[in-house]
Amino acid sequence: RPGKADGARGLRFTPVAPNTDDKVTVPEGYAQNVVIRWGEPILRGAPAFHPDRQSARAQAGQFGYNNDFLSLLPLPREWRRQVLVANHEYTDEQLMFKGYDSENPTREQVEIAWAAHGLSVVVVQEEWRNGKLTPVTRHHLNRRITATSEFELTGPAAGSDLLKTSADRSGRKVLGTLNNCAGGTTPWGTILSGEENFNQYFAHGSSPTDKRYGIGSGATERKWERFDKRFDAAQEPNEPHRFGWVVELDPYDPHSTPRKRTALGRFKHEAAQPRLTADGRPVVYMGDDERFDYFYKFVSSKRMKRGNSRHAREHNATLLDEGTLYVAKLTGDSPQDIDGSGKLPSDGEFDGSGVWIPLATGDTSHVPGMTAEEVYVFTRLAADKVGATKMDRPEDVEPSPRTGRVYVALTNNTNRGKDGHPAADEANPRNLNKHGQVLELAEHWDDPSGDGFAWRLFLVAGDPEDPATYYAGFPKEKVSPISCPDNVAFDDHGNLWISTDGNKLGSHDGLFGVATRGERRGEIKQFLTVPAGAETCGPIIQDRRVLVAVQHPGEVDGASVENPASVWPDGPGRIVRPSVVAVYRKDGRDIGV
Ligand code: FEO
Ligand code: CA
Ligand code: CA
Ligand code: CA
Repeated sequence: RPGKADGARGLRFTPVAPNTDDKVTVPEGYAQNVVIRWGEPILRGAPAFHPDRQSARAQAGQFGYNNDFLSLLPLPREWRRQVLVANHEYTDEQLMFKGYDSENPTREQVEIAWAAHGLSVVVVQEEWRNGKLTPVTRHHLNRRITATSEFELTGPAAGSDLLKTSADRSGRKVLGTLNNCAGGTTPWGTILSGEENFNQYFAHGSSPTDKRYGIGSGATERKWERFDKRFDAAQEPNEPHRFGWVVELDPYDPHSTPRKRTALGRFKHEAAQPRLTADGRPVVYMGDDERFDYFYKFVSSKRMKRGNSRHAREHNATLLDEGTLYVAKLTGDSPQDIDGSGKLPSDGEFDGSGVWIPLATGDTSHVPGMTAEEVYVFTRLAADKVGATKMDRPEDVEPSPRTGRVYVALTNNTNRGKDGHPAADEANPRNLNKHGQVLELAEHWDDPSGDGFAWRLFLVAGDPEDPATYYAGFPKEKVSPISCPDNVAFDDHGNLWISTDGNKLGSHDGLFGVATRGERRGEIKQFLTVPAGAETCGPIIQDRRVLVAVQHPGEVDGASVENPASVWPDGPGRIVRPSVVAVYRKDGRDIGV
């Protein structure tokens, strides 16, 4: 019985052993169901999915590809229902289309890919006996947002000349969202989603800022520039400036226009995780997922209004447009002990202090030589100028609802310490860092709007037998090995759950839970593993279920529809499909108690 297993409350399950099985493996006594797959119809009129009869029109009413971030929002007026929001980071054309010719994609294939990006809103029904979830198709809240849906740019850079194109002279109206990675759920009932590797969609970049953002000078892999000139930066040099933002969506209003919030800066946004100050102002923590890029926060100058009145909703829709954008600088307290090996410093911790360096407040720039608009649109260059700390790929962030401490997943950085690249420092203590680390940050006086913090590394991931790993001081012979932390979430017991992307220990990726307080702090336990080629995304830990997004199953070099590396979730002969999975206890009781 899982209830008898040892562990912190919420983590009493028998850990799943590392494995390479082509399935979702869950602990003994637990069951699972596929909540929704790529292509399942969610809107009225959308057809059932058929791999050989795909169309852009069908896809626009069906669940998108490569689900990443997940949010479940309450729907109190409907019995046992919740609103699921998922985003769809990118498309794997080789795994979507039979006989795909990457040199000559057809217009229909390209338009299917546009429709498979973006976000889905779909109401889900809970089964009363257990934690199973099933989609409610054609619910009036169900919605698809794609690479061609209309978005509004808001905040201090909206309307800037840097954001105007031949199709949008206002600099305020953008079509679509791309490469939505992780995100966050706001206390005012909206979701945030980060536009991450948007650079890959734009051809023929030429400016120094294009270069800093990774926009290549050649054609793109997907060749979208052949079908819409806005993806050709030589023809529309400002179009790439309209991606790389945090988007906000109100899933309760199916007619609302989603917004791109320029006050939160433009970079490869992994995620955006809000919390409130004691006086009710939102603070949003954000990572820029690139080797040697930065960790940021935005502090709003406005207080959230409670309640669901029209007045409150209209007010709260402006919270992320006014405030100050900061970037983090971290200083270790044992610099003499850092040699890039990952050996613990003589004071026993990778730790130190930090400051939040302001970049811009409203229309005022704090960065010499840059206007406020430039700071928002070219945030990476602003952070370069002020000497922010170059991190090992800042991914998802989550503040503990119990302690206020903020956990930042730093997934890896194999270039750390290589020629021409920065060497290890105390927050990023290993050169050629394959496995990543998790940083724990405590704002001074637990005030998220403050300008100083303390930090220490909570986990230095990798093989527990490797002396260059650290599991918060917990005896390492008792932990599940973890590598490449990516998404993070908390359960109601105060345990941190970490999903992985790119495990370098020979096992498939998975989901882990770990206590952050008490004598079990650092005792990490693996809860599930995912199929071949997949990463584990979007974890949500509710009392009765764990929800994960299984992203890019079967994404292995050389794999195709005809030659699949995974047959999940439907078995041999069926096309591999990214899907959302719910895991729950067979006896109907709560997770891990
Ligand atoms: Fe889309 Fe940083 O993972
Ligand atoms: Ca991610
Ligand atoms: Ca130290
Ligand atoms: Ca990732």
